[in-house]
Amino acid sequence: MFTREEASRFVPHGDGDPRTDVVLAWELLYRLEPELYDRLARAERLHPGVLDWLPRGLDRIAEVGAGSGRLTLELIERGRVVVAVEPARPLGQLLSRKLAAAEHGDRARVTHGFFDQLPLGDDFADLVVTCSAFTPAAGHGGDAGLIEMERVCRPGGCVAIIWPNNLDWLAARGYRYVSFAGPMSVEFSSYEEAVELAGIFYPGAAEEVRRRGRRLVPFEVLGVNPPRDLAFKVLAS
Ligand SMILES: C[S@@+](CC[C@H](N)C(=O)[O-])C[C@H]1O[C@@H](n2cnc3c(N)ncnc32)[C@H](O)[C@@H]1O
Repeated sequence: MFTREEASRFVPHGDGDPRTDVVLAWELLYRLEPELYDRLARAERLHPGVLDWLPRGLDRIAEVGAGSGRLTLELIERGRVVVAVEPARPLGQLLSRKLAAAEHGDRARVTHGFFDQLPLGDDFADLVVTCSAFTPAAGHGGDAGLIEMERVCRPGGCVAIIWPNNLDWLAARGYRYVSFAGPMSVEFSSYEEAVELAGIFYPGAAEEVRRRGRRLVPFEVLGVNPPRDLAFKVLAS
């Protein structure tokens, strides 16, 4: 499934087993069943406070690990040019189709790349952003990835990590934290979809989702922290 480059990041020792390695299982999902991932991402919508926080009227925006575009489609109206970097080709193709269908989608393009090797020049963007993709692990960003995102960001620009998963690690590297309050639910399109997707992605909560009988499922029922927060750094001018 993986190119040599991908394998060096996601299965560096060549002995990965997706039945026990959850991170590897997600990487396979992005390549084998991108539409299934997209159904989940559509349901797990970002807190409106996160979207309101993102600056508008920008010249260039770079998004890394754009996936099927949960955030990318929100960025189109915020910048003159949006470059979405995505390593998993099936997800990138899905995102390209969505952008082609979106109003002003021609402002955005999808390109192949990784956190630690971004195909963009120094100081390229006013905003370099990532959502539910960056982690301190080397294969999913790490120090090399953070340095790359900051290289691509212009002086005075902002690097933002939405739905971050290791706040102490980011704080130690100068990132500030913002979180937005309020109840949040996963917004499945129907009760049937809630049962189906919970069965696949949250098997431990599937019975409770079935019992509740609703399409909206609070994140806490699934045991997941909601996408209500971000870490950011404004680079020195
Ligand atoms: C959970 S998905 C999030 C996708 C999208 N940003 C969203 O919010 O739905 C994680 C994404 O990170 C991408 N990714 C994984 N490793 C990466 C790397 N080393 N560099 C850049 N992106 C990576 C995956 O291909 C996938 O698109």
